[in-house]
Amino acid sequence: MNSQTSNFEELNARIWQAFEQAPLDPSDPFRAPVLGTASSCCCALRTVILRKAAASERILGCYSDSRAPKISQIQINPHVQWLFYRPEERIQIIARATAAVHHMDSVARAAWDNTLLEHRLNYSSVFAPGSEISAPDSIALLHRGGRPPAPKELDRAFANFAVIVTTVEHLDFLRLNLDGNRRAAFTWNGTSFKGSWLAA
Ligand SMILES: Cc1cc2nc3c(=O)[nH]c(=O)nc-3n(C[C@H](O)[C@H](O)[C@H](O)COP(=O)(O)O)c2cc1C
Repeated sequence: MNSQTSNFEELNARIWQAFEQAPLDPSDPFRAPVLGTASSCCCALRTVILRKAAASERILGCYSDSRAPKISQIQINPHVQWLFYRPEERIQIIARATAAVHHMDSVARAAWDNTLLEHRLNYSSVFAPGSEISAPDSIALLHRGGRPPAPKELDRAFANFAVIVTTVEHLDFLRLNLDGNRRAAFTWNGTSFKGSWLAA
């Protein structure tokens, strides 16, 4: 991403441009960020695939199994953080956001309808993510039955599918560079992201 600017508005726009492009490009490092939630004991981190980014709505979103711990964690505490990193440019962006879970509603349905059949299979296990199983391959997804599942059959898996939509309130941008590090914060003030420079 081109981040060579001292103009806050421009830098914020470039950050969101990079977010918006990431879901479309499997090789983009911003496509696999870390999503952090608060659990009862500590912070909980995991890699997810960024499925949606929309600057106009300040949205970053991903999909999850509705039975995964992150879903109940968000329902208890919706304050989440995203960690993005581009190793080649040594750019880190941390986004603070408020999350909402969409399950069995029109948002989840629209995302499900746009999801490839093979990806829907991931939600067809009888086991919730994180449950203990007797052997590593005893997940019993529908496709292990030998024949490809019919779309209708797979539709039962829709009940295990959730969309996490987060609305960004704060961005922390950091670029490490031998010529000088650069760090900026952007805080949503109700109308726009207000920028400020930070010591790196
Ligand atoms: C490359 C990669 C991409 C992943 N993408 C997702 C994803 O989009 N959604 C998801 O729920 N889990 C994804 N996972 C699995 C999560 O990292 C995590 O193991 C799982 O969601 C359970 O998380 P939880 O127990 O914290 O809820 C991905 C893992 C890897 C390694």
